[in-house]
Amino acid sequence: MSDRQPINFTRGVPAIESFPIDELIEVATAAFKQHGAAMMQYGPALGFAALREWLAQWQGVQPNQVLTGNGSLELFDFLCLQLLQPGDLVFTESPTYDRTITLLRRHRATVVGIPLESDGPNIAGLEAELKKHVPKFFYLIPDFQNPSGATCSGAKRRRVVELAEQYNFTLIEDAPYRLLRYHGREEPTLFTLAPHRTLHMSSFTKLLGPGVRLGFMLGEADLLLKLAKVAEDTYISPGYVAHGIAYEWCRRGLLPPQIEKLKALYAPRLAACLAAIDKYMPDAQATRPDGGFFVSVTLPAGVLTTTVRAGAAKRNLNLADGLAFFPNGGGERFLRLPYCALTPEQIDEGIGRLAETVREVRAH
Ligand SMILES: Cc1ncc(COP(=O)(O)O)c(C=O)c1O
Repeated sequence: MSDRQPINFTRGVPAIESFPIDELIEVATAAFKQHGAAMMQYGPALGFAALREWLAQWQGVQPNQVLTGNGSLELFDFLCLQLLQPGDLVFTESPTYDRTITLLRRHRATVVGIPLESDGPNIAGLEAELKKHVPKFFYLIPDFQNPSGATCSGAKRRRVVELAEQYNFTLIEDAPYRLLRYHGREEPTLFTLAPHRTLHMSSFTKLLGPGVRLGFMLGEADLLLKLAKVAEDTYISPGYVAHGIAYEWCRRGLLPPQIEKLKALYAPRLAACLAAIDKYMPDAQATRPDGGFFVSVTLPAGVLTTTVRAGAAKRNLNLADGLAFFPNGGGERFLRLPYCALTPEQIDEGIGRLAETVREVRAH
């Protein structure tokens, strides 16, 4: 075993130094003083009313178009429970977020992955699948995708929406990284392009911290009411204590400066990741995102992620396998690099070790 410092390119977690602990200590006291009883009591499963109103105003929708829950992942689980019957067809990008694939499988959906390119799903591939069968919904992560880092172009967003209209299926837009844009121009959300066919999901996990377990969904009020019933039958009401504190933090205007702090912390980490890839692995096929948490690399022909992973572990470099992100196989050479929780020095060192490992695997 190497005596070098361990470096983890495994999970897409926020940097612990990004958590605004001092603000939260102060805000929590104020939240308990003002809303203590409501925070401690059961309440509507749709969520803490004042928070839903704040979110609605922020997002430019009506409060009845907002559902909050204990993280966005569980809201997606409720959606599957409401919409899917065993055997139903769902499209995702391929690769996509591995936990989404796990949940879809748990609901016994048939998952078809649409190949993802650096500017969004392959449209010809999507059209070819649609000629064969129409899904209940198409789940996409259009901004700084997990795991690839890719962002869907405006033209592809519009084409996906046109196809959803033409073939009559729902779009599930998962956008937890959207606000973490370090440079470049924002594209419109699918929700603004097609509000009646899109459910937009986002989360405070990457903006404030996973510990508040605050996710939200925007969509048609009727459907959200049905999801709230599923939520009520699951946990009665979501975590009002954490959500009440998050509300007070938002009400004080602390979200915009927090987003600016996150960009200032993470942009140099993204730059360090891309610079290290150029320096140590100049022939690597890597995505070059403008934001978010992930860069991904396709390893050279014949070099498998599973083999590199084993070699990297001997250098105290921990990597995640790429296979779990591909719903229908593939991904043998795919590697996701979550860089946000590492310092620029650790990123440089980690990619140096990765390049060393790849050279070793190629030599054998
Ligand atoms: C695309 C995507 N969706 C959902 C989640 C989960 O978010 P939450 O913590 O709000 O459940 C993540 C977390 O990594 C994610 O990357």
